[in-house]
Amino acid sequence: MDSTPHQEQGIQPGSDTDVAISIPSMEAYYAFCKEAEEDYEGFWERYARQLLHWTQPFTKVLNESDAPFYKWFEDGKLNASYNCLDRHLLNGNADKIAIRFESDRGEVTHCSYRELHAQVCRFANGLKSLGLKKGDRAVIYMPMSVEGVVAMQACARLGIMHSVVFAGFSAKSLHERLVDVEAKVVITADEQMRGGRILPVKAIVDEALGLADSQTVENVIVYRRTGGDIAWTPGRDRWMDEVSIGQPDSCPAEPVSAEHPLFVLYTSGSTGKPKGVQHSTAGYLLWALMTMRWTFDLKPDDVFWCTADIGWVTGHTYIAYGPLIAGATQVMYEGVPSYPNSGRFWDIIQSHKVSIFYTAPTAIRSLIKSSEADGQIHPRQYDLSSLRLLGSVGEPINPEAWRWYHKHVGKERCPIVDTFWQTETGGHMITPLPVTTPLVPGSCMLPLPGIMAAVVDEAGHEVPNGQAGLLVITRPWPSLARTIWRDPERFRTSYFPQALGGKLYLAGDGCVRDKETGYFTITGRVDDVLNVSGHRMGSTEIESALVANSLVAEAAVVGRPDAVTGEAICAFVVLKGPRPGAEDAARIAAELSSWVGREIGPIAKPKDIRFGDNLPKTRSGKIMRRLLRSLAEGKEITQDTSALENPAILEQLKSTK
Ligand code: PRX
Repeated sequence: MDSTPHQEQGIQPGSDTDVAISIPSMEAYYAFCKEAEEDYEGFWERYARQLLHWTQPFTKVLNESDAPFYKWFEDGKLNASYNCLDRHLLNGNADKIAIRFESDRGEVTHCSYRELHAQVCRFANGLKSLGLKKGDRAVIYMPMSVEGVVAMQACARLGIMHSVVFAGFSAKSLHERLVDVEAKVVITADEQMRGGRILPVKAIVDEALGLADSQTVENVIVYRRTGGDIAWTPGRDRWMDEVSIGQPDSCPAEPVSAEHPLFVLYTSGSTGKPKGVQHSTAGYLLWALMTMRWTFDLKPDDVFWCTADIGWVTGHTYIAYGPLIAGATQVMYEGVPSYPNSGRFWDIIQSHKVSIFYTAPTAIRSLIKSSEADGQIHPRQYDLSSLRLLGSVGEPINPEAWRWYHKHVGKERCPIVDTFWQTETGGHMITPLPVTTPLVPGSCMLPLPGIMAAVVDEAGHEVPNGQAGLLVITRPWPSLARTIWRDPERFRTSYFPQALGGKLYLAGDGCVRDKETGYFTITGRVDDVLNVSGHRMGSTEIESALVANSLVAEAAVVGRPDAVTGEAICAFVVLKGPRPGAEDAARIAAELSSWVGREIGPIAKPKDIRFGDNLPKTRSGKIMRRLLRSLAEGKEITQDTSALENPAILEQLKSTK
């Protein structure tokens, strides 16, 4: 080896040789589980030492003294970007393609690990020249782009905590997030291209920054995606390419503590505003790498494609960090599955020879609908022989969608890994393993080794197999979120509730284990969180947006099953004025729906809005959501309504457009 970045930076390399990190059989799976049970800390320690590159090796594994604010490998130091990029420059993989990017219009660009490293280094140097440094916070509001990954990696390289905000969120949602993290810089794009359309991006940042309390932002860095006309604030705004130009191709990776916050990602809870879920550096990265290898059984020649957006946790762990730390070649796609037609995903798999394809049930269902509807475009018309493994994420996959995916995309030869996890868990938790676990459509099967999952009742006692209960994780694991940004108490009460004894991580999902096999099936959220097209939405968030409209006196939002989006948002609204007649109702509903789109983002728009003189309430004024759920689904009300103050209201709310 010549003078390596390892030596230059005094880094203690992990052994890049293959430590036992594939699970070739169920016997091996149970052996790993046993190992974790018998020596929990030793199990994690071994992987952390072998798989991560440390500037300062850790001596402590797990610190539980301030539970549930667990710390892992806390006296170790490392850098996430170094682990994702530099390590591959040393092990002969510098020229391996890291990202093959396909634009909305179909243009393809490639970048190798060497090129990506240089691009990240130049941009990191540029950020430094603007005075940004370790401990600062950056908000990234960007479309799917290599530059988005570069922005995340450059922040990680300097120890700047990033918070990526999905570029479909409204100015108001973006504003809330950049105020909460006190961002010093916003990294964005001029515009974005999706489905053949050009959509504004920078204009939304300008609007967000025009709202009160955004003074912490000193710079707005703009990736030139379309070159379209945008407003410009001299002194504050800079082009991304100009920030990087002339900067050196190398940039020392800032060593940070294992517990240093790598990122905050906002997600919806059942109450209040979205929560800033904060992840650590070492624990998060370790699990990103381990799950890339275990769940996807990643091999050097694989072409991995995760269709998520970098604005969600799946895009963080399985685009921006996991595939890179694992040294994979990945495909990244800018656009939507339906453009220019519903064969786009199959076309991408065919032309890039994708071997591992990871997508969401909602995308599968919409593609089933379009391909089975007219029969014109169907996966059978494409050569999908490169595929060897399929994945599903974000919501329960219904068995019919599973079977279609298995038959028409996987040609009955590719296993499907139905991966259950959450923003808070950082990576997969419960998932089949390819080739080893038997597959049951709709079941996530078994927890990965080291993940101690159980199903309990409301008092925290384990329930027998076959009985539904709450999914919990009984021991902390390295990639568990560390806290809720600026609200540690909410972290404690949301995830480690006293009702369950204060020590169990409460996922918020219902679960049942098979009577005989013990396989886990997730039955969906048990709180007021909706899952629309795999996106988490809090019903209270949408209710708050609705009541912020001057026409609305009161609103209640529930989910109802939807054949394509999994759940659809149904809102019951009481106006300040009289209940509208049919014609006005349609107009006001459309108005309120776009209002919610502007307040939160288009993904939060209710599909169904109904008006009543009141909402079904108990005598003490509590809204009976269970009744609303039945009404939303169009079901007969069979529940006991004797506690209702105003039973006549049910009739009014039944009517749908
Ligand atoms: O309800 C579960 C559902 O998505 C929730 C987590 O959403 P989010 O934090 O946005 O992360 C999505 C990507 C990991 C969970 O509480 N969920 C996720 N994956 C599955 C799932 N439900 C059933 N099966 C899954 N495979």
